[in-house]
Amino acid sequence: MTFPIGVIAVYVALAMWLLLLVLGIRKRRYGWAIGFGIALMLVLNVRYLVEGAPAGIAFFIGIYDVLNNLGLAPDAQVAGMTSCGDGRCSVWAERFTMHTSWGVAFYDRFVADAPLRTMLLYAHLFFNSLVFVLMHVQMLRTGLGPYRQAHKVLGRVNFVFLTLGVGCAVWLASEHGAVPQYGGRLAEFGFYSMAAFVYGTAIMGVLAIRAGDRVGHRIWMWRFAGTMWGSFWLFRVTLFVLDPLLREHEAVALLVCIWFSAPLGMLIAEVIRRRIDAAARLPTMSTKGASAGRGIAGAGR
Ligand code: HEM
Repeated sequence: MTFPIGVIAVYVALAMWLLLLVLGIRKRRYGWAIGFGIALMLVLNVRYLVEGAPAGIAFFIGIYDVLNNLGLAPDAQVAGMTSCGDGRCSVWAERFTMHTSWGVAFYDRFVADAPLRTMLLYAHLFFNSLVFVLMHVQMLRTGLGPYRQAHKVLGRVNFVFLTLGVGCAVWLASEHGAVPQYGGRLAEFGFYSMAAFVYGTAIMGVLAIRAGDRVGHRIWMWRFAGTMWGSFWLFRVTLFVLDPLLREHEAVALLVCIWFSAPLGMLIAEVIRRRIDAAARLPTMSTKGASAGRGIAGAGR
C-alpha cells in the first residue's frame, strides 16, 4: 500500500503553524505565523497546477479522510460519507473506503471530461492565490512614503486579478444547485455570499481611496484581507474540525463553512485592526476625506 507521506507533512505543517501562532500571540508578533500561512497556502494550491485537478483534489480529500474515518468500522454506513466511483478520489483510497460526500462529488466534478470547469478551477485558484500574496505586499508597502506609485499600480493590477478569481468562483458556484452533496442551492447562494463579502469589501476600499478617504481605504482593505483569510484558511481549518463531528449530516459542515468563513474572517480582522489602532491612537472609524497619517497597514507594523 502506498503511504501518503504528503498528507502527514501537511499535518506536521499545521501543528508547526499552531505553535507559531501561540508564540506569536505570546510575543505579540505575528509575522512568522502570517508568512507560514501564506507559504502553506501556496504549496497546497500550486500542486493543482503541477499534478492536475483530479490528483490535487484526491490530495485535498486525503487531508480530511483521517479524522472523518476516526472510530469508524471499514463497512460503517454514515449519512454524510460515501465511497468513490473509480476508487481514486483520495490519496487514502487504499486504506479508507468511505470519504466525505462533498469530497467525492468534488472529485467527480473534475475527473469527468469537463475542460471548461477545470480551466475555471485553475484560473480561480491561480488568481486568488496571487491576490492572497499580493494583498500582503500592499499592506507592507503602503501608499504613503517611497512606495506610493508602486502601491497604486499594484493595487490596480491586484483588483483585476481579484475580479478574475472571484468571477471564476461565481461561475463554478452557479453549477452547485445540481450538487446535493454540497448542499445544492444553499451552497450556490452561500458561495455567492462569500464572493459578495470578498469583492464587496475590496470595492468599498477602492471607492474610499478614489474619494480621497485614506482612513476608510485602510479600514476596508483590512476587512478585505480578513475575508480572504476567512474564505481560504478559516474555511479549510473549520471544515477539518466540523466535518468529522457532523459526518452524520450530509453537507452541513460544508455549508457552515461556505456561509460563515468570509464574514467571520472579516470580523476577526476588524477586531485586530481596532486593537492595533486603539494602541496607536489612530482613528478606528472612517472620516471621509481625512488623512490617516499612515498607510494601509501602518499601525500594524
Ligand atoms: C471569493 C471568495 C471565494 C469563493 C466564492 C470561492 C469559491 C470556490 C469554489 C466554488 C470552488 C470549487 C468547488 C467546485 O466547484 O466544485 C473553490 C475551490 C477552491 N478555491 Fe476558492 N473561493 C474563494 C476564495 C478562495 C481563495 C482566497 C483561494 C486561495 C487563496 C481559493 C482557492 C481555492 C482552491 C485551492 C480550491 C480547490 C479546493 C482546495 O484545494 O482548497 N479560493 N472555491
